[in-house]
Amino acid sequence: MIAHGIRTLGVLGAGQMGTGIALVSALRARVPVLLHDRSQDQVTKGLAFVDKLLEKDVSKGRISSEEAKEARDRITGVDGVHAMRDVDMVVEAVSENLSLKQKIFQQFAAELSPEAILASNTSSISITKIAASTMPEGVSASSDAGKKTAGRVVGLHFFNPVPVMKLVELISALQTTSDTLDRARSFATACGKEVTTSKDVPGFVANALLMPFINEAIMCLEKGTATRDDIDTTLKLGMNHPMGPLQLADFIGLDTCLAIQETLYAGTRDSKYRPSVLLERMVDAGWYGKKSGKGFYEYN
Ligand code: 3HC
Repeated sequence: MIAHGIRTLGVLGAGQMGTGIALVSALRARVPVLLHDRSQDQVTKGLAFVDKLLEKDVSKGRISSEEAKEARDRITGVDGVHAMRDVDMVVEAVSENLSLKQKIFQQFAAELSPEAILASNTSSISITKIAASTMPEGVSASSDAGKKTAGRVVGLHFFNPVPVMKLVELISALQTTSDTLDRARSFATACGKEVTTSKDVPGFVANALLMPFINEAIMCLEKGTATRDDIDTTLKLGMNHPMGPLQLADFIGLDTCLAIQETLYAGTRDSKYRPSVLLERMVDAGWYGKKSGKGFYEYN
């Protein structure tokens, strides 16, 4: 059997991240994927996006139409976590909300095989806290059963757009076993990704560095230091970034940026992570960036 031993993968959440994870798993790791979202409409949209990306890969000669068909046939929309009970690994890619993730992981622990790896694509939430939530009532964290349950939880942080970005950050909870880490790393590699490892600190490496950068850019705009376009152009042309920080914030989602910054601020109590008031107000207004049609820029 292949090193990661993942014969079937579950993906929970069919937004931009979950859909991308389903695609690279089916196309690159060639693993059958069961995709679920509480909104059936979201699954339909996600699968339509997968079709579009596969068609583009075929039209650019990167894959044959047979490979595209095989990859597409490997992805199946399912109607709940119960349908994932036989998967060898599940990746959760829902919004950045600790209590929601804890509920989901409790359900995973109750319904999935005890051998299955339970991975979260969280951008900043503690994997240790998520792992602790899998413990059934009455089971001690230091017992063999407790260690086994929480030991299969791991952070597998993909980057947006998943089919394009080459990195996966692997995060070990205090409880994660070395076998879980090795298999998760091997699976991410099979998806065509380079893997870096981070301890379970707020924001891990990527967002602990990226979010203060984005927040500073928003504060520059808020203070009137420069215009939106000048801030983004400065970073694009002066530092060779593919996108300016305000455009990148829109691309990630301003609600997601705020949720990550709140986790960083609460988790470190360090004022350098305090979200800007402008970001809070934009999220209050429902201006979430590209996905809602308006953020720092307008989108059709
Ligand atoms: N899904 C899949 N593919 C996409 C895509 C998407 N949402 N958006 C763009 N692409 C593909 C395009 O189809 C194109 O593919 P091709 O080479 O086959 O034609 C390729 O990306 C390049 O796209 P474009 O030519 O349209 O535009 P750009 O050259 O400007 O590239 C970009 C777009 C790849 C998004 C580039 O601007 C970029 O790298 N931006 C920075 C992205 C980034 O920093 N991501 C990390 C965000 S942080 C994160 O995810 C962590 C989280 O925890 C917050």
